[in-house]
Amino acid sequence: MVVKKSVKMLFRLLPIGLMALMLSGCGIPELSALQPRGEGAEMQLEIIKLSLWVMLFVLAIVAVIYIYVLMKFRRKSGDNTVPKQVEGNHTLEIIWTVIPILLLIVLAIPTIKTTVELADAKEAKKNEQINVTANLYWWEFEYPDKGVSTGQELVIPVGKRVAVNLTSKDVIHSFWVPALSGKTDTNPGLENEMWLQAKEAGTYYGKCAELCGPSHALMDFKVVAMEQDDYDQWLKDMKSAKEAETKQLDKKNEKNWTTGEKVYAQNCLSCHGGGKVAPSLTNFGDRQRIAGYLDHDKENLEKWIRDPQKEKQGTKMPGFSEDQISDEELSELADYLLDKKLQ
Ligand code: CUA
Repeated sequence: MVVKKSVKMLFRLLPIGLMALMLSGCGIPELSALQPRGEGAEMQLEIIKLSLWVMLFVLAIVAVIYIYVLMKFRRKSGDNTVPKQVEGNHTLEIIWTVIPILLLIVLAIPTIKTTVELADAKEAKKNEQINVTANLYWWEFEYPDKGVSTGQELVIPVGKRVAVNLTSKDVIHSFWVPALSGKTDTNPGLENEMWLQAKEAGTYYGKCAELCGPSHALMDFKVVAMEQDDYDQWLKDMKSAKEAETKQLDKKNEKNWTTGEKVYAQNCLSCHGGGKVAPSLTNFGDRQRIAGYLDHDKENLEKWIRDPQKEKQGTKMPGFSEDQISDEELSELADYLLDKKLQ
C-alpha cells in the first residue's frame, strides 16, 4: 500500500521534474549565473555545484534508507503481531547530528573564503575604480580618476579585476551582472565594494535585483568589456566628446545651434548635462537600448520623450507635450540624440 502510494507520488512529481529540466535549458549566456563569463561568477558557480553535490549526497542516502526500511519492515500478509517498539537511540542521534555538522563545515569553508575574496577590491582598485550610483530607475557609472561619467552602460577592460564602489541616490537597489558576479546591494548613504572581471570582450546584461518600485523589473543596464587598447581609447573619446559637447552647447554659442541642439539645450541639458540627475547622453547614439530596455530606434525615442511614464512607470523623467516640443522639433531632437556617437 505504502509502496503504491510512493509510486503514485513519484508520478505526480514527474511533470515538475521535467519542467525544471526544460527550464534549466533557458537563459542566455550573457545573463546567466550558470554560464559564467568572469572570475567572480566562476567562483560562485563552484559553490553552487558543491552545495548541489552535498544535497544530492544527502538525498541519495535518505532515499536508499527510506526504500530499504519500506521494503524490509512492511506488513506481511497474515502477520498481525505488533512490531518491537523502539524509543530513542543514542548512537543514531549522534550520527545524524555529527554528519550534518560535517557537511555544513564542508560548505562553510569555501563559502566564507569566496565571500571574503569577492568583497576584497584592494588589488582591483589598482586597475580601475568605478563609482556606481543607482537611481530610480537608471544607473550612473563614474570613472573618477578619468573625469568620465556614463549612464546605463558600464565599460570595463577585459581580463582585469576592476573595483566597483556602490551606492544609491534614493532607495535600496541591488547591482547584479549574473554572468560576471553576484549581487551587491546599493544603499543610500553607504558604500559597498566589490570587483568585476570579464574573461572575454562582449556585452553582458545587468539587472537591479532588489524590488525598488513599479519599474524595478525594467531597471536594466549593460556591461561592455573591451580589450585594454579599445578601453583606453574609449575613455579618451568619452572625455573629448564631453568637452566638445560642453563647448558646443555653451549659451555663448547659441547662434550656431542646430534645431536639435537648441531643443536639447532648452529642455534636456539641465538634468542630463551633469549626469547626476539623469543619465549622461554624451554617447547616447552608441547605446544599445533606450531607457535600459526599449529598442534603440527613433520611434521608441520619440515615444519615450513624449510620455516616459507610459514606458517606465515611476520614472523621474517628465514627459514633453506638443505644446512644449512640437513634432518637428521632437524629430530633430531624436536625430540629434541618436547622432551623439563617439566615432
Ligand atoms: Cu532598482 Cu530594483
